[in-house]
Amino acid sequence: MTGTKRVFIKSYGCQMNVYDAERMGEALAAEGYLPAETVEDADLVLLNTCHIREKAAEKVYSELGRMRILKDARKAAGGDLAIGVAGCVAQAEGDEIVRRAPTVDFVVGPQAYHRLPDLLRQSKTRSGVVDIEFPAEDKFDELPRRAKPGLIARGPTAFLTVQEGCDKFCAFCVVPYTRGAEVSRPVAAILREAEDLAAAGVRELTLLGQNVNAYHGAGPDGRIWDLAQLVYALAEIEGMARLRYTTSHPRDMSDSLIEAHRDLPALMPYLHLPVQSGSDRILAAMNRRHVADDYLRLIDRIRAARPDIALSGDFIVGFPGETDADFEDTMRLVDAVGYASAYSFKYSPRPGTPAAGRDEQVPEAVMNERLQRLQALLNAQSDAFNRSMVGRTFDVLLEKPGRRPGQITGRSPYLQPVHLSAPHGAIGEIMQITVTEVAGHSLFAEPAGAAQAPSALALGGAA
Ligand code: SAH
Ligand code: SF4
Ligand code: F3S
Repeated sequence: MTGTKRVFIKSYGCQMNVYDAERMGEALAAEGYLPAETVEDADLVLLNTCHIREKAAEKVYSELGRMRILKDARKAAGGDLAIGVAGCVAQAEGDEIVRRAPTVDFVVGPQAYHRLPDLLRQSKTRSGVVDIEFPAEDKFDELPRRAKPGLIARGPTAFLTVQEGCDKFCAFCVVPYTRGAEVSRPVAAILREAEDLAAAGVRELTLLGQNVNAYHGAGPDGRIWDLAQLVYALAEIEGMARLRYTTSHPRDMSDSLIEAHRDLPALMPYLHLPVQSGSDRILAAMNRRHVADDYLRLIDRIRAARPDIALSGDFIVGFPGETDADFEDTMRLVDAVGYASAYSFKYSPRPGTPAAGRDEQVPEAVMNERLQRLQALLNAQSDAFNRSMVGRTFDVLLEKPGRRPGQITGRSPYLQPVHLSAPHGAIGEIMQITVTEVAGHSLFAEPAGAAQAPSALALGGAA
């Protein structure tokens, strides 16, 4: 222990960064760091960065500019502020960060978080960007165990990384370079962590991986387990009522995983399955290694197994060489699938990726127009999906206090936020509700019994 200090971790990017931030927070807690409420209260600021698009990466440098001013003011007052950069920008641009922002004390890439405590002690002398050719087999095992009582106040939901890195090398994407080769954590480590989380009151787990459905971890029986086997084992843990996983690649959607969506009630009817484009030409240029029709047939099989499944996706408009006709193929695919929700982005050339150097970059104005049209269609689909929930009854996991007094917010099986009146003590419970109203992306609901009560009374009165 080094006495009480405070750390502020600011995360950008995907859910894996959220998970990593929690684990880094736990590792730092073991070193005597408590969480800081604000940057102003912190002795250490850790920027947990994202490199996926140019805008995300650039945020880091403007944030570091602000940190430098804060650090200078601290020093002038006789104090100090340590600044660390973690995450995917740290991995991709570690040297450049140190060059552009000498105020940074250490840089640590996602493969080296288990070395964070060491790095802190030796900061300024070494950086923690490790060679991604040699990913740590289970770097998390070297961090303190999760959810020790009092270490972190938890809600009823949690992320759990089961697989990290990617071998797919889509032509636009930095992830294989920042997160390294695909590595699956051993089953035993995952089960142990999930048990700790369940003991701390977690009822819903979202399994994370850049390519989560390619999971192939060493099982306790000496065999390699796939994601379907893993979700069945996790569903056995007492109190672990709900399971989700993200993000999946269409090529790795196995029959056994599709069957799990039919047979395993704990596996929630929601699937994020990015396709990026509906044009076979662009899919090939992106190195996605499937055609649009493969995806549509896959969706049919998934829906045959679980008819009410809510589908979500990612789309890129303006990939180099995308013509109007290619874009129309994307619109047609979206039309054919019907998404419950989706994310769509303008193509952003990333240094070091194959597509960045290609000719035929699409003009910004064309990308803007395509993005607008695509988002209008996707929004209409998600609005229709949300509206179709009115009058439906299903289970909601009550997660946290809502915005209004007496209100609690939870999630539907389809991942929509649901607001209802319930006592705070009910947080962590799973309650059957009936949806009464939809506003924007949110559902409003009443306990299922309460929603039936008025009609029961009316019937009683007529008798
Ligand atoms: N592993 C996931 C997603 C990784 S990144 C998958 O296989 O799909 C999340 C999303 O960001 C991607 O699905 C893609 O839609 C988007 N994205 C990634 N690189 C991008 C780039 N260079 N420009 C624009 N969007 C990008
Ligand atoms: Fe990136 Fe493609 Fe891997 Fe997803 S599958 S992380 S988009 S390279
Ligand atoms: Fe960003 Fe790295 Fe996640 S680039 S999206 S933080 S894997």
